[in-house]
Amino acid sequence: MKWVVANWKMNLTMGECEVLASASSHLAEDLPGLSVVVAAPFLYLTGLHEKLKFRPKNLYLASQTVSSYQKGAYTGDVAAFQLKGIVSHAIIGHSERRKYHQETGTIANQIIQALEYGITPIVCFGELKRTQNIAPLLADLRADLHGLSAEQIAKCLFAYEPVWAISSHKNAEPATPNYITNVVSRVTEWFSETYHCQPPILYGGSVTEDNCVELARIKQISGALVGGASLHIKSFTTICRSFAGQA
Ligand code: PGA
Repeated sequence: MKWVVANWKMNLTMGECEVLASASSHLAEDLPGLSVVVAAPFLYLTGLHEKLKFRPKNLYLASQTVSSYQKGAYTGDVAAFQLKGIVSHAIIGHSERRKYHQETGTIANQIIQALEYGITPIVCFGELKRTQNIAPLLADLRADLHGLSAEQIAKCLFAYEPVWAISSHKNAEPATPNYITNVVSRVTEWFSETYHCQPPILYGGSVTEDNCVELARIKQISGALVGGASLHIKSFTTICRSFAGQA
């Protein structure tokens, strides 16, 4: 089963989210072999949860982050216990959360909070600059996951998002299939050796309707995390169809 995650970031009004969510719901219904996740701003999640009451089983709602704290005096945070029953997934460690909100030393605790309340983490990782040497990337991932058990890791989805490839990055361009294959194969090996499991790893970074067919052919990835191109139902449909093997 492959995954396509729409990360709407901070781009849409409630009305626009509702329109896209309904269209995504129809799309998921047409593509039962694909899991489709929509990640909306906190503010809209309850409304969308209500609106999507009769959604197909393969359409999931996600938050774009989650607090690393359980409960209490954390102004502006939203805790996993508050999201429970509303979202099934939470993006954790997105590079924009790391850059603008210093969410880096918090990843393991965010994962623990999400899992404790039955929310599946979609854990993002990726290097800042293009490189042949993936040792620093693995060191960062090891630091992010420090203290977590193999059982906890096995419950997560991961998203490899090279920061230089994300469309909001200056001069961004998607990583090539070879580059992605090389990194994801080595990260998968590392998961096997370290945790004896192979959690699904998605790719994110300038996935568009133009490159999705070749990206969907990469056997090592289990889907895509899509930002900009998820804001338009036409491009999002093309991407979902490619990952569902129906391009
Ligand atoms: P992009 O964003 O598809 O616009 O590059 C991906 C992401 O930030 O998750």
